[in-house]
Amino acid sequence: MTGATLQAIRYQRGSLEILDQLLLPHETLYIPISTLALGHDAIKTMKVRGAPAIAIVAALTLAVVIVDPATSSRLVSAKDARQFIEESLEYLKTSRPTAVNLFDAAHKLAKGVQEVAAKDGVSGQDVVNRYLELSERMLEEDVKDNMNIGKFGAQFILDVWKGGDDLRVITHCNTGSLATAGYGTALGIIRALSGQQKLTHAYCTETRPYNQGSRLTAYELVYEKIPSTLITDSMASALLAQNSGKIAAIIVGADRVAANGDTANKIGTYQLAITARYHNVPFIVAAPSTSVDLNIASGKEIHIEVRPDVEVTTLRGPVVELSSISKGASHVEFKKSADQNSGVAAETIAVAARGIGVWNPSFDVTPAELISAIVTEKGVVLKQDGVQQFDMKDFLSSN
Ligand code: MRU
Repeated sequence: MTGATLQAIRYQRGSLEILDQLLLPHETLYIPISTLALGHDAIKTMKVRGAPAIAIVAALTLAVVIVDPATSSRLVSAKDARQFIEESLEYLKTSRPTAVNLFDAAHKLAKGVQEVAAKDGVSGQDVVNRYLELSERMLEEDVKDNMNIGKFGAQFILDVWKGGDDLRVITHCNTGSLATAGYGTALGIIRALSGQQKLTHAYCTETRPYNQGSRLTAYELVYEKIPSTLITDSMASALLAQNSGKIAAIIVGADRVAANGDTANKIGTYQLAITARYHNVPFIVAAPSTSVDLNIASGKEIHIEVRPDVEVTTLRGPVVELSSISKGASHVEFKKSADQNSGVAAETIAVAARGIGVWNPSFDVTPAELISAIVTEKGVVLKQDGVQQFDMKDFLSSN
């Protein structure tokens, strides 16, 4: 298994680099994140994305900034350091609104720092050290949590699967090494099944409009040599109908799970859950407990991010050399833009009529009723018999 090799986040104390996911799969480029503005921009523009990865990059951006002499020289007193950290976290929290992991991480970091700063005789350096310890631990723990999600999720699927040796799954969006500190959540379960030689095939959806499936999940599946097929989002129901008895589960990640189990995840998740129910296929949400928001009773309270029209009206990618498209060609060879500094505008392909109105919600909410199980690093959460909702509070407090 090479799960840890694909790295979205490269960190060592004082230095943070992220893999620019806007350029994948055509180009592998790590970009340094040395300021709060660069960290904020990387998250907002989705150079890094995926709920756990967003939280960790925000936390580590600040870890890099507070050890930079230009900043650390100003953090002499514990009060100064605490205030700077709190204000910076508030700013980073404004980058994207839906994934709760960012808010959870910021809350835990601010609380940890406040506890140290409140003690007598503590210096700014002590507060900074505490912040570094907490944020660096988040990076390590995310990988461990994902491996546990993989283990629990794979076992759950094998326990409920009655279809014999041909075990296939469908996944949506990207929940792998690129969306986390490593290994992945839903894709971690797929990795675990594959590692146990139990998986025959994985199908990944394209995941319009940002194409996390075709650009990122497909990339990870090919990289891991997991037998896999790409489908467009509109093909899932036909795939289930034609492979009756062969699809063991649809497995997705989560950006926010409410106390009753309602789950916000990438747009398109809800329609997959509906088709899973119709075809009697288990619909599994895989997420670390940091994705659970016990402050909200149901998914109605989740703020759904609406992103720019241009993500729907264009496809991202290196400029296509029109001369390379011959009539009847089955594929197009992409060539890199001649102008490396031309930015996103020069690397988009228009796919919509000019002037059309656009609605681009980045996420949707799947009601708990349609979810069969929620797999966390602490175990698998199920509904009580005859109950349509999960009790996430009870599960988390007793595990
Ligand atoms: O908009 P994105 O790419 O950040 O959305 C990502 C998802 O919806 C993932 O499924 C979710 O964050 C889980 S990642 C382990």
